[in-house]
Amino acid sequence: MSDTILEKMFSLQGKTVVLTGAGGILVGEMAMAAALCGANTVLLDISKNSGRKVVKAIKDKNAETIFLQCDVLNPKNLQDCCQKILDKYGRIDCLVNGAGGNRIEATTSETLSFFDISIKDLKQVLDLNFIGTMLPCQVFGKEIAKQKQGSIVNISSISGFRPLTCASAYAAGKAAIINFTKWLAVYICHNYSPQIRVNTIAPGFFVTEQNRFLLYDNLGQLTQRGQTILDKVPQKRFGMASELTGALVWLLSESSSFCTGAVITVDGGFNAFSGV
Ligand SMILES: NC(=O)c1ccc[n+]([C@@H]2O[C@H](COP(=O)([O-])OP(=O)(O)OC[C@H]3O[C@@H](n4cnc5c(N)ncnc54)[C@H](O)[C@@H]3O)[C@@H](O)[C@H]2O)c1
Repeated sequence: MSDTILEKMFSLQGKTVVLTGAGGILVGEMAMAAALCGANTVLLDISKNSGRKVVKAIKDKNAETIFLQCDVLNPKNLQDCCQKILDKYGRIDCLVNGAGGNRIEATTSETLSFFDISIKDLKQVLDLNFIGTMLPCQVFGKEIAKQKQGSIVNISSISGFRPLTCASAYAAGKAAIINFTKWLAVYICHNYSPQIRVNTIAPGFFVTEQNRFLLYDNLGQLTQRGQTILDKVPQKRFGMASELTGALVWLLSESSSFCTGAVITVDGGFNAFSGV
């Protein structure tokens, strides 16, 4: 296949792509991929330090990017960022909702029963993962709706299909993202434009700084939980952040023009495996 055909299929040239949680391991890698495919990438993260590190890495590759500090749970903050993006680039074509995560205070363990987790901690995890996806869809999605064209990609998790032990609020939040993605995909086609697509990526197990201690011990050996996970992954390994970028670029680009309301699992086969 010639470079021209590939470029036509997967190019993001001139598109403004907004990514939340872009200072993180997975979305940072996604931002880099979108920038290298020609997008003007706008990195939003609550953490200035981590967001700026990703911006520097992208700029070092001579690709276009800016960072804006943003809390996805703060509507005013989102509105201000939206205005700044429109002032700079004049339009918003794509949105990637990657801000998310779990909290130890909302995770059951030998010392914490589900019955004793505070409502505040449960709500924080549900809010970050679910409301933190809905609000950016409202603010940036409104601009995409005006343009009648674009792509929204929400980041769920394989725990959105079947919950993993210990993290009930996280799993519920990720399940809600899958449900909401389908709803928004239909709503936006019916009411705004069939050229706007809304899809979800459901990553499996990726080693990141946040979960490395759960998967490997100090000597670099798999923990029991790490081994239990790998026993259920037909491809017998954890994913690398770079292995999510193909699905992302495909969903952002015109290559996926007939794909909306879909959930794309990138999990080494985990979700397909019944265990037998
Ligand atoms: N790591 C995995 O194995 C895995 C698996 C499935 C799904 N996911 C999901 O993928 C996404 C990215 O995960 P990651 O591993 O890169 O996590 P990460 O912790 O490295 O990145 C998350 C980023 O979100 C930012 N953030 C947190 N709260 C925010 C807020 N209120 N507003 C804006 N930004 C905020 C953090 O500062 C951080 O930079 C998350 O939604 C996560 O739930 C991760």
